[in-house]
Amino acid sequence: MISKELRRRFLKFFEKRGHSVIPSTSLIPEMDPTVLFTTAGMHPLVPYLMGQPHPQGRRLVNCQKCFRTDDIEEIGDTFHLTFFEMLGNWSLGDYYKREIIEWAMEFLIDPHEGLGLDKEKLSVTVYEGDNQIPPDEEAANIWEEMGIPRERIHFLTREDNWWGPVGDSGPCGPDTEIFFDVGLNSCSPECRPGCGCGKYIEIWNLVFMGYNQTTERLYPPLKQKNVDTGMGLERALQVINGFPSVYETDLLSPIMEKVKRIARIREPSSEQILILRILVDQARSAIMALADDKGLVPSNVEHGYVIRRLLRVAIRKGLQLGINESFLGELLPTVLAILGDTYPELHRNQERITAEIAKEEKRFRSALRRGLRVCEKILKEKGELTGKDAFMLFQSHGFPLEMTAQIAKEHGQQVDASEFRKEFERHRQISREASQGRFQSGLADHSEEVIRLHTATHLLHQALRLFVGQEVMQKGSNITSERTRLDVQLDRKLTEEELRQVEEWVNEIIQRNLPIRSETMSPEKALEIGAIGLFGEKYGDQITVYSVGDVSREICTGPHVERTGVLGTFRITKQKRIGANTLRVRGVLE
Ligand code: SER
Repeated sequence: MISKELRRRFLKFFEKRGHSVIPSTSLIPEMDPTVLFTTAGMHPLVPYLMGQPHPQGRRLVNCQKCFRTDDIEEIGDTFHLTFFEMLGNWSLGDYYKREIIEWAMEFLIDPHEGLGLDKEKLSVTVYEGDNQIPPDEEAANIWEEMGIPRERIHFLTREDNWWGPVGDSGPCGPDTEIFFDVGLNSCSPECRPGCGCGKYIEIWNLVFMGYNQTTERLYPPLKQKNVDTGMGLERALQVINGFPSVYETDLLSPIMEKVKRIARIREPSSEQILILRILVDQARSAIMALADDKGLVPSNVEHGYVIRRLLRVAIRKGLQLGINESFLGELLPTVLAILGDTYPELHRNQERITAEIAKEEKRFRSALRRGLRVCEKILKEKGELTGKDAFMLFQSHGFPLEMTAQIAKEHGQQVDASEFRKEFERHRQISREASQGRFQSGLADHSEEVIRLHTATHLLHQALRLFVGQEVMQKGSNITSERTRLDVQLDRKLTEEELRQVEEWVNEIIQRNLPIRSETMSPEKALEIGAIGLFGEKYGDQITVYSVGDVSREICTGPHVERTGVLGTFRITKQKRIGANTLRVRGVLE
């Protein structure tokens, strides 16, 4: 079955059962400042799941563009993707468990209107319950009635069978997930749906979205009981067609073939297959992000950073396949031919996508060339490449460690990676101590007053983003023991109303006495949890994220207070425009 047919069948099946077909929204969430990308079909529907009436009724169905960066480690396996399409249907306080499980079974096995899968190969998981929510016997019983025997119904924990919310708070609930056994051998005696070995592939998730997670981790029931389902289009196609991976489906195989042609590879080795998969996933995802009407471009912040990283990984994977010239632009027509009808924004923005890819590829390739020249010079002069050299290349030329290692290997040598890491750590210490400038704290000293104002500045920054706009980014800050001074990107002064809201919010958070936590993590992880700040251009970098409860997350070097309660009362004392696009805000703690 091809993708167009599967999309058509899914939409038709639910349309026949009273659902309105709604369009896919942008990959960049309209209403949710806490996450960078639309990660699921339900994401744009949050207000309606919370109880707001939807103009198209209580039964909806669609195919939504989605983007997930949290699975980055898994990319290259048989079924994880960064950009993917999700088929989904929703009941907004209308039908519930029985109807959706019955329909799901019908759709899964019907060969004409559905997927035509063998029922014997299906197994399901349901929520095992906890001290607040009972085990989902109801769902298990309905599955049993539908012909799934008990031994193929698994009761699993919250980690496996609870979905949502997106971000810190919002609709969520227990779910039941449907898996297809692709026929591989069991990975262990404990092999089961959800174990991740690839034998059981999750094809559909039915969420019984009846709860609202608050930022304090309470779960009051929602006004209405909803159903939210999600089926990954690429995975479903893989399973229906019995392909070894999503990369054989008509959504991805033409791109694989195109890259193979460019690299002049006929029969890729298993190592090359892995490289091809990563390259194709990253390039396709970058193209789809660039295609968005929001007009994203590669950069060092937020969405732009993700796009830059995807493109650069694709270029490096290309190098590993022997592609030394610009080639990513050549993949656009292939992606267009596959997805252009479904997502016309690809056509609308074709020129911009081409231009941005070309610019980024040129920029990165010239950085790589510079690095390569330096590498060769060192080799000529010293006859070896040390871990320290590798670090210098990385630090000053953005030349990745793996490339230095590759060149060393070509000269029969090995780069000492542990020496590289030691240098890396040492450098991080130094830069932490010397922290200055944008997104660094700009602290006068580490006195108690300054530290308190530093935490208050994070809250001020977050409050401005919440009440004035997500685009209000920090440009710099300077904190003395008397006051904080925060410069943000904004082309006007705050209104009286905004000032009041910002102050009130900050003081409310102070009163809630939330804990401050710091964690070191990869940039991907930081993006995933919605941390704000400048993402460095360097690969493999680790960054520290400071969180205030669940309300603020910022890349920062610290230090901060332990809990917000010690801050007292925050007041904005002055605001002033300094230049066309910068507003300077001063505040004190009293
Ligand atoms: N929200 C659920 C998921 O993403 C079902 O659509 O899996």
